[in-house]
Amino acid sequence: MPVNVVVTYNSRTGNTRRAAELIAGASTMAGASDVVVFPVERANEFFHELAEADLVFVGTWTDGLILFGHRPGGTAKIKSLPKLWNKRVAAFATYAVNPGNISDKFAALLERHGATVTTSAALHRRRLEDEVTDFVADSLSSI
Ligand SMILES: Cc1cc2nc3c(=O)[nH]c(=O)nc-3n(C[C@H](O)[C@H](O)[C@H](O)COP(=O)(O)O)c2cc1C
Repeated sequence: MPVNVVVTYNSRTGNTRRAAELIAGASTMAGASDVVVFPVERANEFFHELAEADLVFVGTWTDGLILFGHRPGGTAKIKSLPKLWNKRVAAFATYAVNPGNISDKFAALLERHGATVTTSAALHRRRLEDEVTDFVADSLSSI
């Protein structure tokens, strides 16, 4: 069965963009037939791909005070995505030191945006290659 994957991300300094590109590559390696990757700001150019997607990865960065107050960075930009009704979504957030409960918080935000979040992960910005492989395998096995 063909599997369409969309990877969209919100990145300030490039870590989450890199994570998104690695996720796209790992999805192709894992057998996804069609994979597109774009920043959330450009989502309006990808309505068709979003509508056709079997799985949408959505990524952002961890905003917080390191020990507490973790929340998804760039919430307004994430909320500007089209509503993700009935879409299976895999949520990821990159972080530097301590992600706290970012993956649950980001999953909850995306659920409020209509998504059905099937997997969520916090990815350390210096260990992206290692951590992306399992996350993508888990996420694709959920569809
Ligand atoms: C204002 C601000 C707050 C941050 N708070 C945290 C934090 O609480 N915990 C953490 O591990 N990293 C924190 N970070 C680090 C970023 O989440 C991390 O570098 C991330 O990978 C950046 O992604 P980007 O390069 O896609 O923008 C913070 C960064 C900024 C700019």
